[in-house]
Amino acid sequence: MSNASLLHPLAQTANDALAKDCPVVLAMLSERGKRFFFPAKGILAQGAEAKQKAKTANATVGIATENGVPMHLACIHKYYQGLTPSEIYDYAPSYGKPELRAAWAKKQRAETPRLGTHPLSNPVVTNALTHGLGLVGDLFLDPGDQALSSELMWENYNLSWETRLGAQFDYYSFFDEKLTGFNVPGFTAGLAKYRGKKLVVSLNFPNNPSGYTPTKAEADAIAKALTAEAEAGTKLVVVVDDAYYGMFYDDACETESLFGRLASASDNLLAVKIDGATKEEFVWGLRVGFITFGVKNGTAAAYKALEDKTAGVIRAYVSNISNPGQSVVLKAIGDADFRKQQAEKVAILRARASVVAKECRRPEYADCWDVYPFNSGYFMCLRLKDADADTVRVRLLDDHGVGTISLGKRELRVAFSCLAEAQIPGVFSSAAKAVRAVRGK
Ligand SMILES: Cc1ncc(COP(=O)(O)O)c(C=O)c1O
Repeated sequence: MSNASLLHPLAQTANDALAKDCPVVLAMLSERGKRFFFPAKGILAQGAEAKQKAKTANATVGIATENGVPMHLACIHKYYQGLTPSEIYDYAPSYGKPELRAAWAKKQRAETPRLGTHPLSNPVVTNALTHGLGLVGDLFLDPGDQALSSELMWENYNLSWETRLGAQFDYYSFFDEKLTGFNVPGFTAGLAKYRGKKLVVSLNFPNNPSGYTPTKAEADAIAKALTAEAEAGTKLVVVVDDAYYGMFYDDACETESLFGRLASASDNLLAVKIDGATKEEFVWGLRVGFITFGVKNGTAAAYKALEDKTAGVIRAYVSNISNPGQSVVLKAIGDADFRKQQAEKVAILRARASVVAKECRRPEYADCWDVYPFNSGYFMCLRLKDADADTVRVRLLDDHGVGTISLGKRELRVAFSCLAEAQIPGVFSSAAKAVRAVRGK
């Protein structure tokens, strides 16, 4: 039994660890974040103790066993190959499978050389990236708190942080006026509005919906702006949403996650990396993602406090993440052919991106749209001229059988990740017809 109005002693211990090593991070937490802890002393702890010592019989775990393995039905088991019953049916820990967390941490370091040996939290496994973003909201956003994003963003951020948690987004324009690249001055000015306050900033590159990844110089400028703002006293929680990491099609792209530049930038800047297997490893339905924390003055004790709070929220909502998904991703990233196979799929997407780049910019479509710069990811986005995006979307679907997504008044998003090369020219010629039909010329 517990009295919700009192801070649980384990929450107090976690908060004390943060107060000692990373006091600003403690101040960044939402009221819920401050209250949360991992219930390490209840059923879970007794079960773990029994796992070590119960040699005669273990009657602690809430699963059913038979012949020493989790009980299971043949009509289910026939769909799995190469996984043991424990790798499929057993519960995974609320933090995620330890071997998977270690393997993913190794992969993150290898892909992010700027991290060097700077200490980070261990990644905590999430029900893919949506859940990771939701956890950031749970831990750091109270009703009325401010978040900053470009106007080109994945709409589910609004549902999670605004509709669900009552936070509020402010926006800057993603691209400069001439659509040549990332709008560093707009971003810097957007940050400056919140000087001295707490601000949650979301950064997503390769970007959904534009398909843009900053250049190295732009990435430097983004990190510089954030670091300067943190040093000027703003308490920044910077979410680096790496959903489409690795899908780079242009040598100009910065291929290292911004997390590398931000994880040791300032005591006032908590970098949170949200990544996972979903898009990178082409396993959308397996639901395996990660949340990882990095801050300049981060210590093992402070990171443990953050991991415990995160796993506590997971325990409270969903208890733990799908075990077969985690087992498969663990085996895949340990597979000798993993990198090769992944590169082959990225090459297919790169070839499509190159056809798209040519087709969408044909001179005969110049009256229909501007093309937002794109060099990475799954998507590209058109900025329509003199035609409402949703009206064009419906026309394109009804008259030509082509499905796209309208965003805002002018943006039409095309997921070239789902188009065979041969389909691409027809998609843009149909889109141009739909634009002209909507505006009557
Ligand atoms: C930018 C961005 N972040 C996060 C997600 C969520 O991905 P997941 O399926 O892993 O929850 C998406 C999915 O479309 C996305 O586009």
